[in-house]
Amino acid sequence: MPAKVAILLSGRGSNFLALHGAMERKEIPAEVALVISNVAEAPGLEKARSLRLPTVLLPHRLDPDREAHEDKVLAALEHAEVEWVCLAGYMRLLSAAFVARHPERILNIHPSLLPAFPGLNAQEQALEWGAKISGCTVHLVDEKLDHGPIVLQRAVPVHDDDNPISLSARILVEEHKVYPDALGRLLTERWRVVGRRVVFS
Ligand code: GAR
Repeated sequence: MPAKVAILLSGRGSNFLALHGAMERKEIPAEVALVISNVAEAPGLEKARSLRLPTVLLPHRLDPDREAHEDKVLAALEHAEVEWVCLAGYMRLLSAAFVARHPERILNIHPSLLPAFPGLNAQEQALEWGAKISGCTVHLVDEKLDHGPIVLQRAVPVHDDDNPISLSARILVEEHKVYPDALGRLLTERWRVVGRRVVFS
């Protein structure tokens, strides 16, 4: 049985499409059971609809507080019987209570080699810092921003003539490979979290 995966997104949705493509090609034993967006205009939501995947729009601005919003997201995940949650450009921090409902089953991708450059505009942060190498990180999600145990990372060079667009594009190529790789390994291999380490055995 393929694992039921929910995608949470707020924007373009290219990592969602990379994950979905790998599932469709049977490279990973999973299926997209639900796509949730908190942004009505998110291009990723439109892409999910055009693929005829189940989608739910939950605009957080309509909810009185984070708890009320997360309750709706959790209810949607439960209704779809989701086993894994992949954040793919989902620009909201999840609470500890939310994470506790899906322990070690929520993944995020971030466009830097964490713990360097968490938060917004990670590629610009790397350029401003003068980093010679950057990359992307897939990690298990905890309640802190871009923080949980690292599953996989990929590095790319930073060139002297890079700008945020060129560096983002180079990193994004790796994002689209490492996110399916990480989910596939978590689904097919034995692993456990030791301290902050995700250890495959
Ligand atoms: C990706 O670069 C992803 O790594 C980043 O948002 C972009 C979403 O693009 N996520 C973060 O910065 C999380 N802190 P996409 O919508 O095309 O996948």
